[in-house]
Amino acid sequence: MVKICCIGAGYVGGPTMAVIALKCPKIEVAVVDISVSRIAAWNGDQLPIYEPGLEDVVKQCRGRNLFFSTDIENHVAEADIVFVSVNTPTKTQGLGAGKAADLTYWESAARMIADVSKSNKIVVEKSTVPVKTAEAIEKILTHNSREIKYQILSNPEFLAEGTAIQDLFNPDRVLIGGRETPEGQKAIQALKDVYAHWVPEDRIITTNLWSAELSKLAANAFLAQRISSVNAMSALCEATGADVTQVSHAIGKDTRIGPRFLNSSVGFGGSCFQKDILNLVYICECNGLTEVANYWKQVIKVNDYQKNRFVNRIVSSMFNTVSGKKIAILGFAFKKDTGDTRETPAIDVCKGLLGDKAKLSIYDPQVTEDQIQRDLSMKKFDWDHPIHLQPMSPPASKQVNVVWDAYQAAKDAHGVCILTEWDEFKTLDYQKIFDNMRKPAYIFDGRNILDVAKLREIGFIVYSIGKPL
Ligand code: NAD
Ligand code: UGA
Repeated sequence: MVKICCIGAGYVGGPTMAVIALKCPKIEVAVVDISVSRIAAWNGDQLPIYEPGLEDVVKQCRGRNLFFSTDIENHVAEADIVFVSVNTPTKTQGLGAGKAADLTYWESAARMIADVSKSNKIVVEKSTVPVKTAEAIEKILTHNSREIKYQILSNPEFLAEGTAIQDLFNPDRVLIGGRETPEGQKAIQALKDVYAHWVPEDRIITTNLWSAELSKLAANAFLAQRISSVNAMSALCEATGADVTQVSHAIGKDTRIGPRFLNSSVGFGGSCFQKDILNLVYICECNGLTEVANYWKQVIKVNDYQKNRFVNRIVSSMFNTVSGKKIAILGFAFKKDTGDTRETPAIDVCKGLLGDKAKLSIYDPQVTEDQIQRDLSMKKFDWDHPIHLQPMSPPASKQVNVVWDAYQAAKDAHGVCILTEWDEFKTLDYQKIFDNMRKPAYIFDGRNILDVAKLREIGFIVYSIGKPL
């Protein structure tokens, strides 16, 4: 029986391994983590992450061939294939701070693998890492090896949150990079055999190590660039009377462009787009490719511009001040169908409004008050450094109130901001919301999910991204 161990029971490690366990009943899969509470949650009734369909998959395999454990060393020692899916955040200090990937967690995982291994292993990079990381990992592993042979593979993950299970069941492609030696090719084949349990062979792409590592950064950069491109157009639409939804539709009909990922928004968020582009920029700079670095940097700049533009629009339309005014924030997660708030645009929008002394009443169906208060009190890039984080919650801000109902959030508010495209926000009783708000009542739709004409008929003053005012 093949044994797999995955180091890191997070948004990637948990769902990915659960699907491998489901699809490969003859493979034993152990997911290990240094976080005792996270592992306890994976073993309990309330899983540590909200992801549609995940609970069902976990329930089918947990205790059968899927195990969650803090006994990291034993599981690693016994495994044939070790996935490493730890966090690779942006460095906050020292060389490359604010851009380079912090590989502290990866390096400590690699050192531990080298310390406890007693048999040959395939070590798989599941985390998103800078190109050439496999070379560094190889050095750590082989330096300490006592006759043990390691093969490093790069197998980046392309799932998106909110659709993780769907994406894992039916991936566009699985990418495996390895050494172009007979041993490297054998290792690639071993991992291919795992995925071949459910992924058609023509969707499993194999490359050299560096192409696989770079493809992951490139894929995220291209996706984010698409959003920044349409968001840049949204500003021009507002200035000219064009409607960004119509423009997206029109250009998306060109099969070379395609219709997906062209929704203009308050800005992209999530744990990876910004961090991976910054990482790409840093790698370009280190290779003396200034123009290439500047090109990709612009994707982040436009994203920051979009978030600032949204805040400025709110403040300027409310007579240039929101001081003391109640503003309802509907949605805090970085996208719908997830409780994840990492790098959510809501953080920047809320901080911008708080900077102008607004009073915020926030509602999100999946995000807790603790999480929101923590996010609003943390410095940029600090969120993904768990070892440095204080376990205590920061003192709650008096300017921020978190509620469990959209109507309560909007009661007596001067304005309502939609920051996440949760389906339930489309069907709220906006007449009721209007009746209970201060007048003039404003709606700022940062996700373009509302019917502007209907809202205007009710009496709202409406601002939607990239639409005529
Ligand atoms: P996460 O923070 O949810 O999970 C990482 C886990 O690793 C944490 O639970 C942490 O406690 C654990 N960990 C850290 N160091 C450890 C160690 N030495 N030993 C054992 N456990 C350790 O992160 P994530 O969202 O799952 O992302 C993981 C990686 O996957 C990142 O590189 C990310 O860029 C990449 N990725 C993420 C997504 C996504 O949608 N979140 C998608 C594709 C790729
Ligand atoms: C993204 C990629 O889609 C995954 O392929 C990748 O594996 C992952 O990053 C990663 O490496 O972490 P994710 O961040 O989970 O996945 O979610 P997306 O659906 O890509 O959305 C990212 C952000 O862009 C969200 O804030 C979303 O609201 C925003 N977005 C997305 C738009 O503003 N407009 C769009 O048209 C699409």
